[in-house]
Amino acid sequence: MTFKKNILCIGAGYVGGPTMSVIALKCPEYKVTVVDINKNRIAQWNSDNLPIYEPGLRDVVESCRGKNLFFTTDVQMGIKEADIIFVSVNTPTKTFGEGAGMASDLQYWEKTAHEIIEYSDNDKIIVEKSTLPVRTAEALGRILKSNEKNINFEIISNPEFLAEGTAIKDLLEGDRVLIGSQGTESGLKAADEIVKIYAHWLPKEKIITTNLWSSELSKLVANAFLAQRISSINSISALCEKTDADISEISYAVGKDTRIGAKFLNASVGFGGSCFKKDILNLVYIARSYGLKEVADYWEMVIKMNDYQETRFVSKMLKEMFNTVADKKIAIFGFAFKANTGDTRESPAIEVIKKLIEERANISITDPKALDNAKIDLAGIDSNVSYEIDPYEAARGSSAIGVVTEWDEFKILDYQRIYDSMKKPAFIFDGRNILDHKELFDIGFNVYPLGKASLTHF
Ligand code: UDX
Ligand code: UDX
Repeated sequence: MTFKKNILCIGAGYVGGPTMSVIALKCPEYKVTVVDINKNRIAQWNSDNLPIYEPGLRDVVESCRGKNLFFTTDVQMGIKEADIIFVSVNTPTKTFGEGAGMASDLQYWEKTAHEIIEYSDNDKIIVEKSTLPVRTAEALGRILKSNEKNINFEIISNPEFLAEGTAIKDLLEGDRVLIGSQGTESGLKAADEIVKIYAHWLPKEKIITTNLWSSELSKLVANAFLAQRISSINSISALCEKTDADISEISYAVGKDTRIGAKFLNASVGFGGSCFKKDILNLVYIARSYGLKEVADYWEMVIKMNDYQETRFVSKMLKEMFNTVADKKIAIFGFAFKANTGDTRESPAIEVIKKLIEERANISITDPKALDNAKIDLAGIDSNVSYEIDPYEAARGSSAIGVVTEWDEFKILDYQRIYDSMKKPAFIFDGRNILDHKELFDIGFNVYPLGKASLTHF
């Protein structure tokens, strides 16, 4: 079968995999190939056991794989035959040298750019899918234009706004798609090619076209605003615990103002995920590098407030458990950075557990999807950690439960049975406010919600 266009995506991760699967589903006349240097990942994409868990993803992959959707490690062939190349390789925060801990590590991106030059022999559109610092496209453009083969590479910024756990829904019916290009004639033409892809299923008004820099910066700003809301409500949760105010009542009352809106106002033990922290750090780094100290400091506080919230959760446990958790068993309910995903990147569970390990607690972690990743994250420091798929087993013999992820599974457990199996006094710290606190108190637990009065039998 001949296809109208060949689309390639480099990087078969959380972003590349689902995005390309949906493009293949909606654009049957295009051939969509996803390449990755990681052989195992590609093998998983080609198996029944996909490397990531996303509701709806399996159905989409199964209906297109082998027809117009292909997963391979053959980067060379992929690049050669592609008309449009999406680049979705990871851009972690730099861990070394200038900008360490702040700036993005662009080595994979740059390496990819060189591969694109090496294996190309005709003009191509290169789409930035990875979140990149503003003006990276310019630098990448220079690298690509430095090719000696006289090939024209048009660079487009098309940031993703997928949230994990709802990636397929976000792709199919997202609020908007953003396509940034250089305002030149060829740049606008390239942008139009990308618009055409999304126009297969999204109405025109949801497809926003901007200049390159606005598109790149919008992605960082969107994530910074979302994270800022969480830090804002979390800061107020601390204040609520000192007063008689209730954070859920405040979220509800404040969110009713349509100018503010009700979403992203759930107080939590802290936000995690691969994007929020990294993108804000990037924003801070960029602002600082332009001499905008106040702007940088302002956004940096969003991260500091998140660190504070994680620390506060553990400090509260310690204080309430008579200032020591040494040798006590503590069950941690949830390790994923949020419900409905097995992803643990930047999960608040990591910091919470590290701090509890420092306090010499014995930890038992339960999570429906994230235990494999938890073992990787805690490798080398987990001699006093056990991993239990069964929450009842995790809680048995423990002195306290800390709820870190808002899995529905935790809401419907038999807490009487759990209480009966625990050491007394039994404590529960609900870092997500998902449980019925009154009911737990009536069973006999000492209950510490977030941003609300505690319910104790002392
Ligand atoms: C990544 C970035 O982290 C994010 O900033 C961006 O918005 C989208 O891409 P994600 O898909 O979640 O997000 O990353 P990850 O799951 O780590 O996938 C990246 C993939 O790229 C990995 O499978 C990795 O093996 C692959 N890769 C990396 C290559 O194929 N080639 C490389 O040179 C480097
Ligand atoms: C986020 C953005 O939502 C998405 O648009 C972007 O492309 C990538 O980053 P994601 O990291 O998958 O997506 O998760 P999200 O649902 O935004 O949650 C991030 C973190 O905030 C989670 O740890 C979550 O538990 C926490 N959160 C979210 C809260 O603590 N309170 C809330 O009210 C909402």
